[in-house]
Amino acid sequence: MALNTLLFSWFPFLLFIPLLYLFIRRKPDGRNRPPSPPKLPIIGNLHQLSTKLHRSFSRLSLKYGPIMLMDICSVPLLVISSSEMAREILKTHDHVFCSRPKLDGVRRHSYNHKDIAFSPYGNYWREMRKLCVLEVLSPKRVQLFGYVRVEEVAYMIDSISASCSSVIRLDKKLMFLTDHIIQRVALGTSYRGKNDDSREFSKLVHGALYTIGLSSAADMVPFLGRVIKFVTTLSYWHEKNFRALDSFLDQVVKEHTDPNRQKSESEDIVDVLLRLQSGDQFGEVSLTKTHIKAAVMDMFIAGIDTTAVSIGWTMAELVRNPRVMKKVQTEVRSCIGKKGKVEESDLDRLHYLKMVIKESLRLNPPSSILLPRESMSHCNINGYDIDPKTMVLVNVWGIGRDPGLWKNPNEFFPERFIDCSIDPKGQYFEFLPFGSGRRGCPGMQLATAVSELALANLLYCFNWELPAGMKAVDMDMDEGGIFVIHKKSGLQLVPIKYNWES
Ligand code: HEM
Repeated sequence: MALNTLLFSWFPFLLFIPLLYLFIRRKPDGRNRPPSPPKLPIIGNLHQLSTKLHRSFSRLSLKYGPIMLMDICSVPLLVISSSEMAREILKTHDHVFCSRPKLDGVRRHSYNHKDIAFSPYGNYWREMRKLCVLEVLSPKRVQLFGYVRVEEVAYMIDSISASCSSVIRLDKKLMFLTDHIIQRVALGTSYRGKNDDSREFSKLVHGALYTIGLSSAADMVPFLGRVIKFVTTLSYWHEKNFRALDSFLDQVVKEHTDPNRQKSESEDIVDVLLRLQSGDQFGEVSLTKTHIKAAVMDMFIAGIDTTAVSIGWTMAELVRNPRVMKKVQTEVRSCIGKKGKVEESDLDRLHYLKMVIKESLRLNPPSSILLPRESMSHCNINGYDIDPKTMVLVNVWGIGRDPGLWKNPNEFFPERFIDCSIDPKGQYFEFLPFGSGRRGCPGMQLATAVSELALANLLYCFNWELPAGMKAVDMDMDEGGIFVIHKKSGLQLVPIKYNWES
């Protein structure tokens, strides 16, 4: 049959599809739903989104408002773009929106949603979260692991010193730093230098983040996603990666239960979890090996990239803004003098550095959109009806750049935080880099401690230049990534050793 005959014989059916769609689309049910951008049959609003979801949502919210109901291949998606609406979701109605959708893409790596970050709201999550906040990532434990941060930052500074005056990939050094800090905090050891495990392990963790991100994005477009997963063999790689990480964690648990094992300076996270498993201190849920592996996996998946990426964005903003760079280096160097390194006890005096970090988190929150939440029951927000099981995305990036909340919002201007009580701890809904409410980030204290110490030392020990021929104004700040938004082109800089003795 000729191609045009085939097309013409199908043409009436093609016309029929939009009509069928109009017929079967949701009939008015008397409920007042949030405004929605116009949609297409089958794909809904998918065609209005780019790979930079936060930018697409910000653009659409200018027209459709701060609470917008989208339809992605028949999956309802509530997009939140203002501080007032974020407060409604994360505080006023936190009890309704504190669950997470069960995305198939994360099922494997979260041990069937048995971890903290991706498990739905319920008894199990409550107990795991309590354990995480009160034991695993408690302020006391973060403080106890101060020596790990000091040693690992010193290791990074030494390795940068060895490549002084030449171009380095600072983003990679930072990833190495956070990777080893989290490894040592969670497992009691980092495998650097002993064998090749560490490189293999980092590769697995980054692979996991990548395949989780891609699979979850694919899950949001049900049919198309399944086709994409099949064609790209994504599920295979996802599964393979999970199995390798799982057997690594099996080995770790086995080593920790070996009676002849030499204990590290402080109890690591696996030690803590095993201790709780053997006692009866862990509420109603009994801790199994799978729960322990799931909790540890979360630390890696949630903690390594976010922290490294956030330090990287701060360095990129500083190199682009020489005035701020000079001011913050003057503060650090005059506070520290000829001591040779910044110690944790010095950090409280570095007020401008803290403002620089806040300003960078405002402009470039690593989680530009909070991890997805899901409504557990019907709820009324600002007069709009929200159905149960609606997926909710809060666009933290868009809120941080809202001109109604921030003067010259795209400018990197840390001084805006002088005499300003706004902090990132989740009480100020115009600034939510760590989220808020029951699901807010439990790793915030650890992340802040690592970021401040690493940045203070990078700024104290080196002056920073761009590779020859590059100008600060030309710096490529394009974003990449799905769950964690990083600087797409990496961070290539030239460190020049600063002589603090002169
Ligand atoms: C600069 C670094 C970090 C940033 C920007 C960040 C940001 C976030 C955000 C936005 C969320 C979702 C909050 C919400 O839904 O309201 C989150 C959740 C989480 N983060 Fe972080 N995070 C960082 C570092 C860490 C670290 C170092 C750890 C642990 C080692 C960690 C562990 C977690 C966990 C376990 C969750 C899930 C909490 C839950 O669902 O109950 N994060 N983080």
